[in-house]
Amino acid sequence: MVLPHSMPLVPLPASVIAGDGRLPVSGSTRVIGDSPAAQQLIDAAERRTGIRFTLSPDTADTADTTSAIVLRVDPSVAPEGYTLRVTDSVEVVGGDEAGLFYGVQTLLQLLRDGDEGWALLRAEVADAPRFERRGVMLDVTRHFFDVDEVKKFIDSTSALKFNHLHLHLSDDQGWRIQIDAWPKLTELASSTASLGDPGGFYTKDDYREIVAYAAERHMLVIPEIDLPGHTHAIGVAYPELVEDPVMNDSLIAESVRLDQPLPVAGEPYLGWGVGHSSVRIHEERTYEFVRDVVRELAEMTPGPFIHIGGDESLGTPQADFDHFVERATAIVFEEGKIPLAWHEVGAANDIAEGTIGQYWGKTTPEGSHAAEAAHFVERGGALIMSTADVAYLDMKYTADFPLGLTWAAIIDVRTAYEWEPTAVLDVPESAILGIEAPLWSETTRTLSDVEQLVFPRAAAHAEVAWSARSAAGRDWESFRVRLAGLAPLWKAEGVDFHPSAEIPWSER
Ligand code: ACM
Repeated sequence: MVLPHSMPLVPLPASVIAGDGRLPVSGSTRVIGDSPAAQQLIDAAERRTGIRFTLSPDTADTADTTSAIVLRVDPSVAPEGYTLRVTDSVEVVGGDEAGLFYGVQTLLQLLRDGDEGWALLRAEVADAPRFERRGVMLDVTRHFFDVDEVKKFIDSTSALKFNHLHLHLSDDQGWRIQIDAWPKLTELASSTASLGDPGGFYTKDDYREIVAYAAERHMLVIPEIDLPGHTHAIGVAYPELVEDPVMNDSLIAESVRLDQPLPVAGEPYLGWGVGHSSVRIHEERTYEFVRDVVRELAEMTPGPFIHIGGDESLGTPQADFDHFVERATAIVFEEGKIPLAWHEVGAANDIAEGTIGQYWGKTTPEGSHAAEAAHFVERGGALIMSTADVAYLDMKYTADFPLGLTWAAIIDVRTAYEWEPTAVLDVPESAILGIEAPLWSETTRTLSDVEQLVFPRAAAHAEVAWSARSAAGRDWESFRVRLAGLAPLWKAEGVDFHPSAEIPWSER
């Protein structure tokens, strides 16, 4: 008897009944369905096995379904949910196209190589997500990742049922998105990146290509322009918009420790220090800039959210900060989108009602972080949990791991797994939309570096976000065994995961 929770499924489904044995697959296996998920299944199965299933887009073609894989949508199944049955045939039923896509991801995890060749593990699965918000963030400022690299990141994270991709598009080190009204941003402030590496930016067509690619994989893109701090690069393009740098002790200490020059107004900044930059809060021109940027982002972003940053404005007087974020959150609503902001923005009394906060404090909140986060809820908004000492993907796994930082914590796979998003803040559970796991890119010079930090820990966060706490097997001992089974999938997709010694990795 195969224990349901030892089947190689991550994130853990709501219900799994393991069947007996395997259903062999071959080139004559038909995939019956007219959803995009049918082609996605065929392509992914071929990358994995070298076997190309046959597409049968005629959904009436169900007279003989022996060995066939039938994919269909039935709205009586929950949104994003699916049911899946592998017996002598296969049926995956999504509550919607997203649910069907997720059912296909689960099916791909059941596809295994064995002594008798490729086969699907027999099972019955019924599944739906715990949280509506299952996000990852990619920082494309400290290091830039081109369209193809972002697509690969979307492939690997959507396969874990993440449904939001937050792109951190501007920071002190570079501006990464074409804005027609302010062309010098990309002409003058995008060519650099941390460690002196080359920068880059997305044209509007590039960005739309990313948005469309993500949508095909049921991920919504959230663009972030970080304001009023983290804006040194804006001053390289438009010095009149940005104050002179205000140094802080930690920035100076980090610059000395890392032998990185301090920021100089109007010159590219490539170090890792934070907190020195601010747009000019009392200049009307600043708000013209914010409105133009928000409007152009809104025009090319079909999703409802625009993130306006708000973190670490350490040199900005509190009253100025409050004034700025109150206006900036209102501008996002005026331009037809819902603002998201890092939790510091909750310090301002009159943030626009309905603004969504992103908590990046620790599991035990420090200082005013919890109160700031709670203020979003008091203002009719809600929260996304990016608890830094468990969910930050850029922290090292171990003290000697070559990539990543350590300021929030050292986060091994188990620590990334064993956290509860509703247990951090004193707010109603219904105010927690879900989670987001951010990857900051100071140390990641290549997508391969990114992948080593993200995988396998993103799989832990996927399970935190997707799987009900009460599901049988929703625990570390089960997770580490199930996670082991993702190794062959990641190898087939060329995902450069970190083979952490905490996991008994499978060969096939
Ligand atoms: C952050 O890590 N500064 C949001």
